[in-house]
Amino acid sequence: MAQLEQFAAPGSEWWRTAVIYQIYPRSFADASGDGIGDLPGVTSRLDDLKDLGVDAIWLSPFMTSPQKDAGYDVTDYRDVDPLFGTLADFDELLAQAHARGIRVIVDLVPNHSSDQHVWFQQALKAAPGSPERARYIFRDGKGENGELPPNNWESVFGGGMWERVIEADGTPGQWYLHIFDATQPDFDWTNEEVREEFRSILRFWLDRGVDGFRVDVAHGMIKADGLPDYMPPTDADSMGGGEDDVPYWGQDGVHEIYRDWHEVLAEYDGDRALAGEAWLPTLEKTALWVRPDEMHQTFNFPYLMTHWDAADLRAVIRDSLDAFGGVGAPSTWVLSNHDVVRHASRLALTADNPQGEGIGPKSAGKPDPAVGLSRGRAASTVMLALPGSAYIYQGEELGLPEAMEIPDEFRQDPTWFRTNGERYGRDGCRVPLPWTADAPAFGFNDTGLSWLPQPDEWAASARDVEASDPDSTLNLYRRLIALRHERELGYGSLVWEDAGANAVAFRRGDLHVVANLGTEPIELGEGVEFLVRSEPFAGTALPPDTAAWFIRA
Ligand code: NOJ
Repeated sequence: MAQLEQFAAPGSEWWRTAVIYQIYPRSFADASGDGIGDLPGVTSRLDDLKDLGVDAIWLSPFMTSPQKDAGYDVTDYRDVDPLFGTLADFDELLAQAHARGIRVIVDLVPNHSSDQHVWFQQALKAAPGSPERARYIFRDGKGENGELPPNNWESVFGGGMWERVIEADGTPGQWYLHIFDATQPDFDWTNEEVREEFRSILRFWLDRGVDGFRVDVAHGMIKADGLPDYMPPTDADSMGGGEDDVPYWGQDGVHEIYRDWHEVLAEYDGDRALAGEAWLPTLEKTALWVRPDEMHQTFNFPYLMTHWDAADLRAVIRDSLDAFGGVGAPSTWVLSNHDVVRHASRLALTADNPQGEGIGPKSAGKPDPAVGLSRGRAASTVMLALPGSAYIYQGEELGLPEAMEIPDEFRQDPTWFRTNGERYGRDGCRVPLPWTADAPAFGFNDTGLSWLPQPDEWAASARDVEASDPDSTLNLYRRLIALRHERELGYGSLVWEDAGANAVAFRRGDLHVVANLGTEPIELGEGVEFLVRSEPFAGTALPPDTAAWFIRA
């Protein structure tokens, strides 16, 4: 089969090959003991991340926020929410991470603010047509008295995408647009004042020393002129991505913004990077985000969304390397994050329970935990062998499954509320991490409080338990990451090998990588010397749902 080139060049910028660990601060480690993780908690655990071997961390939002969408609703882009600590705590975290050679990227939320942001509060008080309203997307309603929303768009979290305001004189007035919750009004990115404000916010964090930004909803910031009606197909992915020509996703106007930001980052030394959250229909379109003068990375969601199917997995890897390589960018690889069902559960989902909308007590066809874990470990074993940059979501290195039995009264995801419980949403992948089996809240803090309940069976996945088990998922990840660095697998090219229709098989130099996605063992042949097996097994027949790295004597 053809050889695909995926060089880390030009230059040796860190983000081209980095293993980046996503920290969801409210669920990582809780130093204050209030049940919600915080920045001092992160700092206290940096040695564990150093030990895991990651090159960088991405911190989900910790800026000032009423937490209506877990911090993706910001009121002050230049400060830390007291829930998570202070700016001094952030500076300390950054210094401690850098002292360990770990880069830090922070989450930037530019598509929308919180409705409590001073600009939005000013907009509510100001008159229609005012400069204050022009920072957001306010429109008159349709119907005789403006009682109908300006168009038919539906929020990602369910319900309509418009909210009507009460004007200063007490009468119902204009409507404002919110792709997400009504507490998250969208900025108008055609307004130069908004653009200037975000340049300044970028500089605020760059001046503090951050290594880059993960850009939230990077595909949603520009809406089509005239805001034309649009109704997604019923099976569309809610974050976008399924369809072409959606008037609020992937509009060409976003590229100009990223070129502008690219220049801001280029003013700073040290290879600062932009990583875009862009859910788009094709890899070709996704690659446009990372042309040489735009973002540096974009998340590879087509890879994340690929089912446990060998032909599909081979195709998405090949297409990713082609598409990103075609614009001189590294491909990224990601299997889990705080918005999707954890891959140690998702990869065992069946057709009667499609991925992506959460799993809860009443869901049909819950994934088998053992099958999910085997596939999850095998999938990670493939991912960490691929050239480019790989993202790990906190807890996947422990093999954590989705928490599927969270009682309704604990749920916090706005999706759950806006769909009246029809969609469970994302709480199941956001449960606080288990650090120590025999401690309160499994060592998440020392008070035993936890904003979402931790499943009892997570005691067996606590970091201290896994650290001392040579066959644990934690030790699998440690080994994969260490070898990835040693063999410089982030760089270079990939050569496909043929191990049958149910295999994903390729070579990285003299390292062979094979995953078995079928139901029968795959014989690997003579002279095999294993470097990594995703599960322990004897002999040279690779069992189903297993992957291995080996050389041939
Ligand atoms: C994408 C984030 O990852 C998600 O958690 C959030 O709810 C939406 N953007 C809105 O900011």
